This record gives sequence, C-alpha cells and structure tokens, in this order.
Amino acid sequence: MDRLIYLDNAATTFPKPDVVHDTVREFYRNNGVNPGRTGCDMALRAEAMIHDTRKRLSDFFNPSLAGNGKGKDPNRLVFTLNATMSLNLIIAGRVGRGDHVVTTRAEHNSVIRPVNHRVRDGGAEATFVALDSEGYVDPEDIRKALRPNTTLVVVNHASNVTGVVQDIPAIGRVCREAGVPLAVDAAQTAGVIPIDMAAWGISFLAFTGHKGLLAPTGTGGICVADDAEIRPTLVGGTGVRSADPYHLEEYPYRLEAGTLNLAGIAGLNAGIRWIQERGLEAIHGHEMKLLALLQDGLSQIRGVTLHGTTRLDRRVATLSVSVAGYDAADVGAFLDVDHNILTRTGLHCAPLIHEHYGTAPRGTVRFSIGPFNTEDDILAAVKAMETIAARKN
Ligand SMILES: Cc1ncc(COP(=O)(O)O)c(C=O)c1O
Repeated sequence: MDRLIYLDNAATTFPKPDVVHDTVREFYRNNGVNPGRTGCDMALRAEAMIHDTRKRLSDFFNPSLAGNGKGKDPNRLVFTLNATMSLNLIIAGRVGRGDHVVTTRAEHNSVIRPVNHRVRDGGAEATFVALDSEGYVDPEDIRKALRPNTTLVVVNHASNVTGVVQDIPAIGRVCREAGVPLAVDAAQTAGVIPIDMAAWGISFLAFTGHKGLLAPTGTGGICVADDAEIRPTLVGGTGVRSADPYHLEEYPYRLEAGTLNLAGIAGLNAGIRWIQERGLEAIHGHEMKLLALLQDGLSQIRGVTLHGTTRLDRRVATLSVSVAGYDAADVGAFLDVDHNILTRTGLHCAPLIHEHYGTAPRGTVRFSIGPFNTEDDILAAVKAMETIAARKN
C-alpha cells in the first residue's frame, strides 16, 4: 500500500508536531493536578503553564485596543473545548430576546445553528448576508444589514470549504462605526495567518486548538477585547470563592466553569511555541506554495471544477472541487481506497455556502493542506484525480 497522504487538515491537523504529544505526556507525568483546587507545587506549576498559554495566545491575537490606557490582560483569554463551544458562548451571551444578529452565508454550522436557535427558541432576529461569486462578503452589505437592535455581527474568517479569507479589517471598521461588537470565527485561521484584533476591530475571537494551532482536540477559546463583554451562560465551579452563590463576574472565570482540559492546554502551549519557532509566515508560505501547485494541477484536468476563488492572496490552503459524472463521496472513497489519500467530502458543516455554489446537497471534495504536506503529496493527489476523472470524462 502507498504511504498515507493526509489532505484533511481543515478537519484537524495531522500529524501534530512530536513536541505536542511529548508535552502532553510530560504534563501528566510531572504535574497533572488541578490548579486553583490545591496549593501544592505541582498545582502551581500547572497554573503557571495555563497562565503562560493565556499570555502567548493573547500576544498572538493582540486583543488590546491601542491607546485605551489598559494593558493586555491575559485573563480575557478564556479556554473552552473547541470553536463550537466558543461561538455558542458568544452568541448566547450577546443575543437575547428582541436582539438582532448579522452573519453570513459562509458560516459553519457552529454559527448557523446557535443563531437559528436564538431565532427559533429565543425571540431573536437574524440576517445572513450573501457572498459574491468568489465567496467574499462585501463589508457594505454588513453595514446595510445592521439595525438599531443589532447586538452582534459574527463572521467566518476563512471558509472551511473554499479557503476564502474575508476582509475582517473592513468589516471591523463598519462594526466600530456602528458601535456593534464583531465576533470572528477563526477556526480555520488561528495559527495559520496573522490576526490582529485591536487593529482590525474584533471584539470576540473564537478559536479552536486542534487545527492550525496544532494542539490536541478538546482545546479552544475566546479572546475578548478589553472594551467588550459577554454575559456568562455556562456557570458552575471555578475553585475560587466557593461560598459565593453566583458565578464570578471577572475573567477568565466569567466564561470558564469546571476543570479545564489541562493536558490539552499543555499541548496547545507546545503547538504555539512550535509555530512561533518556525514563524507563521514561513508555514503559511509553504502551504500556499503547495496550494498553488494543487490548484494548477487540478484546473487542468478535464471534468474537474474548482469552487470559489482561485486567487492566492486572502486565502488559506483549502480547495473544494467537483468531478463531472461523480458524486463527491465516491471521489473521496476512490482517493482513500485506491490511492491512500485522505480528503473530506460532503457539505463540511457549511450548508449555506454549498447552496451558493450549487453544490448542495451532495457537496464537494475538499483538499486541505497542512504544515507537514510535501510537494510529492500534491503531485500524487493530482495524479490520482487525473485517473479518477478520466474514467468518466
Ligand atoms: C469555519 C469553522 N468554524 C467552526 C468550526 C468548529 O470547530 P470545532 O469542531 O473545533 O468546534 C470548524 C471546524 O471544522 C470550522 O471549520
């Protein structure tokens, strides 16, 4: 059997750097106890590791507003289990009865469903802004969708279907001018391309650990700008001020309840260090060089249609295609069984963008490149697609 070629990094990155698994194992060996619940040395070391991870991520996303006189507060970096949980906390904590939320047709179900539930079950209203033919949102359309009762704008940073990166700085300007907080779903961009919350006007950044940040699953968070607030909707034990009958108002406790995924966060810490050592730009440059090769190869195959933009700027290394005469699931199965190439097929939890491209309900074949892919992987994928497409075209 050929070696495994993994081109499903948008689902989760694989493999993770060795240092990530080594760090998780070391954490459990040496100081795997619950900080805040005991004062022993091991707990203090665990607490220091958690704080260091908050600080690194905070520095990474730069949530502090320039010139507002406050320093960057790492405690406003709160941990969750994934981007889905982060987006649920943001949407539930900002959109109440009678409120209006603006979002887009590029979103993942982790935005679409919480928004739809607020509308169906919570008495809120929502507007889903359309995309242009390449998959971009016009910031002016966001402006036009705003109403006096809009309490949140939520926008996908990069599409997990097409790789399109939205113009967040321009959308952020619209939101700042209107005084409406902007939440960004950075599931596909955190650890992949630079993000500057303060410069771009982002109030809430939702991220996941197991994709671009190269961390274990069960890690993620929200970075909250220092002029923005979310009502807590998840409450419980924090290990602090246990006699208080109500949940703590201050960050990070405001949005964290229960024991954190400590070992996962240790792995997240290692993932960020690994990225910082190599440089975000260098890793992204490598991925985009491979994407250009893939795009070039696939676009020359008869019967293969590429969806979304073909531009290489404002883009991450994810590409969706259809093959004439085939159901997307069958192409994925042939790639897997005959060529040992892993992709992902279907709607990728983003049904509205497939409606936009006319690829619903069967979806597309998605190739997504990660830091460990090589030129040989891409050449093999193009060759396999040539073989599959030639059978019917
Ligand atoms: C754009 C986008 N948002 C949110 C998510 C949800 O991420 P998680 O599964 O880590 O909660 C994903 C995962 O595929 C995604 O691609």
